[in-house]
Amino acid sequence: MHKVIYDTDPGVDDAMALLFQVRHPEIELLGITSVFGNATIEDTTRNALYLAGRFAPHVPVARGAAAPLQRTAPGPLPMIHGGNGVGDIELPDDAGTFGATLDPRPAHRFIIDTVRAHPGEVTLLAVGPMTNLALALAEDPGIARLVKRVIIMGGAFGIHGILGNVSPAAEANIFNDPHAADQVLAAPWPLTLVGLDVTQRTIMSAAYLASLRDEVGDDGQFVWDVSRVYHRFHLSSEGLDGIYVHDSSAVACLVRPDLYTLRSGPVRVLTEGIAIGQTIQKPLSMPVPAQAWDNRPAQSVCIAADYAAVLELYRATL
Ligand code: BDR
Ligand code: CA
Repeated sequence: MHKVIYDTDPGVDDAMALLFQVRHPEIELLGITSVFGNATIEDTTRNALYLAGRFAPHVPVARGAAAPLQRTAPGPLPMIHGGNGVGDIELPDDAGTFGATLDPRPAHRFIIDTVRAHPGEVTLLAVGPMTNLALALAEDPGIARLVKRVIIMGGAFGIHGILGNVSPAAEANIFNDPHAADQVLAAPWPLTLVGLDVTQRTIMSAAYLASLRDEVGDDGQFVWDVSRVYHRFHLSSEGLDGIYVHDSSAVACLVRPDLYTLRSGPVRVLTEGIAIGQTIQKPLSMPVPAQAWDNRPAQSVCIAADYAAVLELYRATL
C-alpha cells in the first residue's frame, strides 16, 4: 500500500489524477495539500476541498503556498483550466466546505507532521509548483531521510525535442517556482521526475475520453465534464484532438514503475535568465567534472513509458 500526500494545484488534470488515486486499491491518501499554480491559492484550495468532499471525504486538505519563494506569482490560466480552475464544471455554492475537512495547519507543516508520524512510509506525489515541499524542507530538513519517495510531475529534458510548455525552455510547474524546484531536487530523498518527455506522449484522445464517458459510469462522466475546456485548449493551441496526461502520469509511475524507463543523474533548474525554469540533468555516465553538479544527489528522470499501458491502467482503475 502506498501512503500518499498529494500536493496539487487543481487544475483539470490534477482533478483527474486525484480520482485515479482515490480509485486505486494500492493507494492510501493521507492528505491533499494545495498550492497556487493553475489558479490562485483560494481557488485551488476550494477545488481541492470540493474534490475531496466529492470523492474522498475522509481525506483532509491543507492549504499551501500562495506564491513562489522568490519570483512574482504567475496569473491563473483560465483558457487551459477554466475560470474556476476545474474546467468550469458547475461548483456548488458551498464547494469550499463540501463535506471535506480543512486542516488548520499550513501545507508544509502538514507534510512535516505526517512524514514524521509515518517514518519511511510516505510518498509525496507533487503535481504543482514545488513551493510547499521546499518550505517543508527548509523548516525540517530531516524529513528528506524519512520520506519513502518523491514523485513529481514537472520538467522537460528534450528527449523528444520538447523543453517546455509555458516558455520555449520550461515546463509550467517548474517555471512557476524554479527556486523551490532547485531546492527540492537538491535534497537527499529518492525522487522521480515525470516530465513532458513522457506526459506529452501519453495522450487521451477524444475517442478515449468519450469511451470513458460512455462506459465508465459517474467517474467517466466526471472526467469528460472536467476536461471540456482543457480539450478545447489542446485543440486550438496544438491541433491535438485529445489531452496530454500530465498529473495522472505521476500516479501511474507510482503504482506501475515497470511502465517507465528512468535515467539517473543530478538535476538542476535554471533560476534566472531567458531559460528560467529549464531543467537539466547530468547523466551519471557523463564523466565531466562540473562544480554545479557536485554534491547533488542523483535523481531519476522518466525518459520513456509504455503509453498505451498507462491509458489502459487509468481506464481499468476507474
Ligand atoms: C503541469 O502544469 C499544470 O498546468 C498541470 O496541472 C500539470 O501539473 C503540466 O505542465
Ligand atoms: Ca498540476
